[in-house]
Amino acid sequence: MFKKETYIARREQLRKDIGHGIIILPGNHEAPCNYPDNTYWFRQDSTFLYFFGLQREDLVGVLDCDTGRDYIFANDYDIDDVIWTGPLPSVADLAASVGVGHSGTLKELQDFCTKAIKEGRRVSYLPPYRADITQQLSTLLGIRYESIVPFASHQLVLACVKQRSIKSAEEIAEIEKAIATAYNMHTQAMKHAFPGRYEYELAAIMQGEAWRGNGPLSFPIIMTIHGETLHNHNHNNQLVEGRMVVMDAGCETPMNYCSDITRSVPVGGHFNDRQRDIYQIVLNANLEAIRVSRPGITYKEVHTAASRILAQGYMDLGILRGNLDDIVANGAHALLMPHGLGHMMGLDVHDMENYGQINVGYDDETRPSEQFGLGSLRCGRRLQPGFVITDEPGCYFIPALIDKWHAEGTCRDFINFDELEKWKDFGGIRIEDDILITDDGCRVLGKPIPKTIEEIEATMNS
Ligand code: GLY
Ligand code: MN
Ligand code: MN
Repeated sequence: MFKKETYIARREQLRKDIGHGIIILPGNHEAPCNYPDNTYWFRQDSTFLYFFGLQREDLVGVLDCDTGRDYIFANDYDIDDVIWTGPLPSVADLAASVGVGHSGTLKELQDFCTKAIKEGRRVSYLPPYRADITQQLSTLLGIRYESIVPFASHQLVLACVKQRSIKSAEEIAEIEKAIATAYNMHTQAMKHAFPGRYEYELAAIMQGEAWRGNGPLSFPIIMTIHGETLHNHNHNNQLVEGRMVVMDAGCETPMNYCSDITRSVPVGGHFNDRQRDIYQIVLNANLEAIRVSRPGITYKEVHTAASRILAQGYMDLGILRGNLDDIVANGAHALLMPHGLGHMMGLDVHDMENYGQINVGYDDETRPSEQFGLGSLRCGRRLQPGFVITDEPGCYFIPALIDKWHAEGTCRDFINFDELEKWKDFGGIRIEDDILITDDGCRVLGKPIPKTIEEIEATMNS
């Protein structure tokens, strides 16, 4: 936890931004896996963490904008719980530890909500993403289950996005701890990416390194010789010479700040000529994004700058043809990168995605594109100092997509489909860093993880 003044200041700002009424911020419950007492790994809700920092399940935070009072509601544990869990702090003590002066039981929370509604006070809450929280809000507020999401407060969403988008120095330090562990995850896995090993063995090494850093993964590991499948969570393939392994993985710190790093390495530790060509193009795009990212530019423009590097590289290989501006304007290069350059990262690996991506990555000025590829960009808005965002260009030869575009004649003026046939067995490459927008540019966060061809070969063969 940060010191309590951090949470007090965040809540104070939120109350100010919302102005009047009450704000309800439920923490998460335990989620049963296969029977009630066998639960998934507990993950606190990130909004709750941001404003209260507390890790216990079943807590509900309430901010009263009219009185300036903050509350934590939950039932205290009794001896029947403590037998299994050991001694635990009271709800009042938990509340006090983060500067919350008022606490109560869940029955008192129900009474508080019922009274607020009777008095016609405005009640603001975020759109829930879990069924149990939706049900809890429905009961608390007397609103039908189906109406809970539509009645969520857009103003509250925007106020949370405003605060959470700008990372403080103490948040950056946490993110860099998560990247320090990701450094170990990636470099250890690289050293085992040799023929005969299985993807699941490398994924296990990563998972072990994450726990050695005292945190869970920030999302299920992507570890695959079929990197052309963007989010490939299957780990059953044996590594064979000639394939690239895409390793996309990160972890969380005990406070749940995340890392999200991708490295792509050649099985066996030496890039062949084709791998070298494609890798260097993707690396150049990653570096171009770092070169141009600064306050004032939109991430849509950064995505386009990186896309130009990719497209030029494919022209040099004879895969694309024509005029560079036209290729990028028509999105022909997106055949080989059907996703956006990056997303915000913080307490969530895709930060705040539960608020609705459009509210996080776009604004009145910058609207999402409908073009294939660019339309998948999760964050397009103008960058500000304090944003933490991923820079993750890739190149993927997806046979089914190539066949589809070929059959339909999509972008046929720009694509040399005969040449592309030769690449259909290549797989994919992605390179991902987490960057901080600074006052005059950006900084790649964390200890540098081997990224150039020379650095990767040296690490794998060390
Ligand atoms: N881990 C998925 C991504 O890079 O966004
Ligand atoms: Mn990733
Ligand atoms: Mn990412």
